[in-house]
Amino acid sequence: QALQRAALDATAETAAAVQEAVSSIETVRTFAGEEEEERRHGRAVARMLGLRDRMDVERALFTLVQRVLQLAVQVLVLCHGHRQLREGSVTAGSLVTFLLYQDKVSSHVQVRPRDVPPRRPCPSVPAATASAPVQALVFGHSDLLSKAAAGRKILDYLDREPTGDAGGTWAPAALRGRVVFQRVSFAYPARPERLVLRDVSFELRPGEVTALAGLNGSGKSTCAALLERFYEPGSGEVLLDEVPLRDYEHRYLHRQVALVGQEPVLFSGTIRDNIVFGLEGCGEEEVRAAAAAAGALGFISLLDRGFDTGECRGLGGGGDPGARLSPPPCGFCPVEVGEKGGQLSAGEKQRIAIARALVRRPAVLILDEATSALDGEGEAALQQWARSAGVRTVLLITHCPRMLEAADRVVVLEGGVVVERGTPAELRSRCGPYSRLLQR
Ligand SMILES: Nc1ncnc2c1ncn2[C@@H]1O[C@H](COP(=O)(O)OP(=O)(O)OP(=O)(O)O)[C@@H](O)[C@H]1O
Ligand SMILES: [Mg+2]
Repeated sequence: QALQRAALDATAETAAAVQEAVSSIETVRTFAGEEEEERRHGRAVARMLGLRDRMDVERALFTLVQRVLQLAVQVLVLCHGHRQLREGSVTAGSLVTFLLYQDKVSSHVQVRPRDVPPRRPCPSVPAATASAPVQALVFGHSDLLSKAAAGRKILDYLDREPTGDAGGTWAPAALRGRVVFQRVSFAYPARPERLVLRDVSFELRPGEVTALAGLNGSGKSTCAALLERFYEPGSGEVLLDEVPLRDYEHRYLHRQVALVGQEPVLFSGTIRDNIVFGLEGCGEEEVRAAAAAAGALGFISLLDRGFDTGECRGLGGGGDPGARLSPPPCGFCPVEVGEKGGQLSAGEKQRIAIARALVRRPAVLILDEATSALDGEGEAALQQWARSAGVRTVLLITHCPRMLEAADRVVVLEGGVVVERGTPAELRSRCGPYSRLLQR
C-alpha cells in the first residue's frame, strides 16, 4: 500500500511538473530554461517508472506465490481424494461429481481482478478448479490493497476539518462598512514562529478610501487576507460594523467584502460569466454598470461579441441563452477570453476583475495592487467610482504615490507594525516613514 501511495504521488508530481512548465512557458523561454525543465520532467518520469517497476516486481512475486498456493491446493485435494478412494470412503463417481460441482459453485462466488481472463471450464481436468475459493481470497485481497491506497488519499482529503469557525449566521439587511483591526497579531500556519503582523490597529471608515502603504513584505496583503477571512488572527479581532468577522454568514461576508488582487484570476467562459461569477439573479444593466465603473466598457464594446466574448456557440450553432455558464468549448468557436483570461491584456483582466467586485455592490472593497496594470484612464475611472460610491469603504493597497496621495487616509506598515496613520497631507508634513516611501 505504501508503494502504491508513493507511485500515486509520483504520478501526480509528474503531471504537476508538466502543467507548471506548460502554463509558465513564457517564463521558461525567457530564461532559456527548456533543458532544465526537460531534465526536471525526466527525473519525475524516472522516479515514477522506478516505482512502477518495483510495483510490477512485487506483483509478479505475489502472482508467483498465488500460483504456487493454487497448485498446492489442487495437489492436496487430489491427494486427499486419492486416499479416500483407496480407503473406499468415496467412490470415483462421487469424487468426480464433487469436483465438478465445486467448480460450478466456486465460479459463481470467486472475485477476479480485471486483468485475469476467465478460465474456460475444463471437465477433463476437474482438480484444476479446486482452488477457486482460495483465488477469491487472494485475488480479491490484492485488488483491495491496490484500490485501498487510492481510496485512502481521497478519504484523507474528505476527512480534513476546516481550521476556522465556519458557523457564523449574522447577515444584516444593511451594512455601513466600518472595519476595525483591533490589536491584531498574526503568523502564517507555515511559519508559526514568525509574527507577520504585530498589534496592528487601524480603522476603515465608510465612504473613505484608506490606503495601506509599506515596503514589500510589510504585511499589507496579509491584512487583506485577514479581512477576507482566509486566515484567523492569532490574537486581536477584525470587526465589521462592530461584529467579529467570524460571526458573519460565509456567503454574505464574501458578497459584502470583495477583493481584487494584483493578478486576478479569470475563468474560461464569457466576459459576462466572469463578471457575474458566483452571483445569482444579476441583470444585464448591473453588469454594464459595473463594467462602466471599472472602466472596462470601452474595450468590451470594441470586441466583436462584446460581453459574450469567449462564448461557445456549440456544434449546433446556438447555446442556451438562459444558461449562466457557457458550455465547454466545442473546439470550433474562437474562445477569445482564453484559459485564465490568457488572451486579454493584464490591464483588461484587471478591469474585468474590478467589475466582478463592483457588481456585487460590496460594503468593503479591497484593491490589492489591483490598479498596477491600469493606464491613466483606468485609474481615473476607479477613483471616480470610489468617490461616487458614498457609503462604501475602500481599502487600497498600492505602491503608486499618485494613488496614495488621492486617498482620504493612509496607514503605513513597517515589518508588520503600524508606524504612521493620518491624511496624506498630515503624513507628508511629518517627514516620517510616509514621506520616505513617497521619495523612493
Ligand atoms: N502563505 C504564506 N506563508 C508564510 N509566510 C507568508 C505567506 N504569505 C506571506 N508571507 C510572509 O508574510 C510577510 C508579509 O507578506 P505580505 O504578502 O503581507 O506583504 P506585502 O506587504 O503585501 O508585500 P508586497 O508589497 O510585496 O505585496 C512576508 O514576509 C511574507 O514572506
Ligand atoms: Mg502584497
